[in-house]
Amino acid sequence: MRKVSSLSDLGFMRNCIFETIISTYSIKNLPNAAPMGVMTDDMHRLIIKPYTTSQTYRNILLQKCAVVNITSDPVIYYKTAFKDANYSSKVPLGWFEKANRVNAPKLKNADACIEVEVTEIENKRDRAKVFCEVLNIVPAKIFPKAYCRATFALIESIIHATRIKVFLSKDEKKVEELTKLVKYYDALVGKVAPRSVYSDIMKENLKRIENWKAKDKIEKT
Ligand SMILES: Cc1cc2nc3c(=O)[nH]c(=O)nc-3n(C[C@H](O)[C@H](O)[C@H](O)COP(=O)(O)O)c2cc1C
Repeated sequence: MRKVSSLSDLGFMRNCIFETIISTYSIKNLPNAAPMGVMTDDMHRLIIKPYTTSQTYRNILLQKCAVVNITSDPVIYYKTAFKDANYSSKVPLGWFEKANRVNAPKLKNADACIEVEVTEIENKRDRAKVFCEVLNIVPAKIFPKAYCRATFALIESIIHATRIKVFLSKDEKKVEELTKLVKYYDALVGKVAPRSVYSDIMKENLKRIENWKAKDKIEKT
């Protein structure tokens, strides 16, 4: 197998956002993971943009390092975006192992891991810009995966759900727009992956959105 030693080996391209899972340790050294987009502007450093309300941001601020996990598995996106979708509302400890070069956990099931050290943090209102130096790239020995449209549709729906949660009490039009997209993707998953783990997660995701909306309506009355 060819050695993976650079961001371009992993498919990164300048100025494009790639979806990943960022794993970090808390102040008590408890592992945390959350989906976040990352990009590179020079094919060497990585830039993460966490909301300052996120646990990931707090951990990065404290530890000054993280692991950028590469995966296309929608189950990992779902269970790390919504911690309450897990037993005991926590990402299972068994999913993690300590990284080699930084004080951060990595995901055992990731296709590849990039260990990074934080060099600079810029704060802009509610979102930070975290500049990272790549210290170590660890590819996993994985087989190629056949492409199913449900994986894309599900990951898009999980992103939209996290945004619906943010916009809920602020922008009704945006919430409806995003909900419409999630329903479109639900129909697509129903077509290409009916009665699968993907369609189950999609149903759960839709129910989650409906529950948030119902709660918001009650709070507004
Ligand atoms: C594919 C995907 C990409 C996301 N990208 C970001 C991001 O760039 N920054 C961010 O703050 N949240 C992003 N989110 C939302 C966070 O993952 C979500 O709010 C999560 O619950 C934060 O977890 P934490 O509080 O443990 O850090 C993304 C979600 C998904 C599904």
